[in-house]
Amino acid sequence: MSSLRMIIWFFEVLIWYGVLYFVQIPLRKSENWVIKVIALPVKLFFMTLVAFLFFIINSTITYRFGAGFTALYVAMAGDICGGIIDFVRRLVVKYRGGADKSESSFNPMILVCISLAACIFIFIYGVSNSGKIHEAKHEWQSDKLSKTYTIAFISDIHAGSSQPFETIQKLVDDINAENPDFILIGGDVTDEWTSYEEFVKTYEIMAGLKAPAYMVNGNHERQPGGKYIGGRTYTNEQLGEEIAKAGITLLSDEFVELNDEIVLLGREDESVSERYKWEKMENPYDESKFFIVLDHQPFDKEQLAAEISDLQLSGHTHAGQLWPMKYMCLLSGQPAYGEYIEPGTRLFVTAGTGNWMMPLRTEERCEWDLITLTP
Ligand SMILES: [Fe+2]
Repeated sequence: MSSLRMIIWFFEVLIWYGVLYFVQIPLRKSENWVIKVIALPVKLFFMTLVAFLFFIINSTITYRFGAGFTALYVAMAGDICGGIIDFVRRLVVKYRGGADKSESSFNPMILVCISLAACIFIFIYGVSNSGKIHEAKHEWQSDKLSKTYTIAFISDIHAGSSQPFETIQKLVDDINAENPDFILIGGDVTDEWTSYEEFVKTYEIMAGLKAPAYMVNGNHERQPGGKYIGGRTYTNEQLGEEIAKAGITLLSDEFVELNDEIVLLGREDESVSERYKWEKMENPYDESKFFIVLDHQPFDKEQLAAEISDLQLSGHTHAGQLWPMKYMCLLSGQPAYGEYIEPGTRLFVTAGTGNWMMPLRTEERCEWDLITLTP
């Protein structure tokens, strides 16, 4: 992101913080402790709502690299930090028995400074955290394998939303340096913020992947019904062409034998109505093979309950991307990030290599996964 855009974006944070400050003046002046105590969880609820709206908003008022929702999110987070510190301060003062004297001498601008400092910290941390892709290593054993295999798994690059080309190039170089046996790509490589030129350039970089690579589409590639903001700048045919030119095999409810021991099923995205129902899929291979399912979204409970696959690799969730979305996911009983041992299968949900819509991540780190399968 350019410095100018960054400055504009942070300016938005300050505007939102100013709005929040003035709206809350009656609350700040109130001496009613009950109202002040209730205000904090209410504000936390609204911050969660804003983070949620960030993910589902379908509006033309948002714009690339400057979504007001994320600026509002940062301002609310900073305001809540200030509120929590003020709450603790009042508790300490009350405990010491000097409440009246302390309140009259306390300068409220101190809290404003603390809140703004929290805004700056969350902003800098969120932006810098979103731009670094970490290598996460996993080792899983299976009696079905006679030797060790390594798989590089990437998902949710969202080229156009956040990661610049240099970062995507470094990702490709890092994967090649590990010399994996296979590369599996879990979808959402590009999204509705990707221009056609960026879309082409992204797959030119991806063509540098040296090991055999297989990919499934994500919801942002497919966008059934053209329902996402602005829609795509490329057609399904162009998508297929660029993926093929990059030497990547695109799978849409298709099986492929990776070698004598491993079978891969690449699933069409769950948002697409043509996706096969799990019960209609017939595994053409016998159960002695190690069976991997690559499915962009991790939410197909019937598929997991079918106990057919040995390993399912998914992305989509970005581990919540913004706090506390991961915990909202978990509260609703949905997988958000990490390893989930289901009966008969192992589901792994990556945090993703990029971020959607904004280069801002306060939840987990961007990652690509090096999976070692051992006998
Ligand atoms: Fe997705």
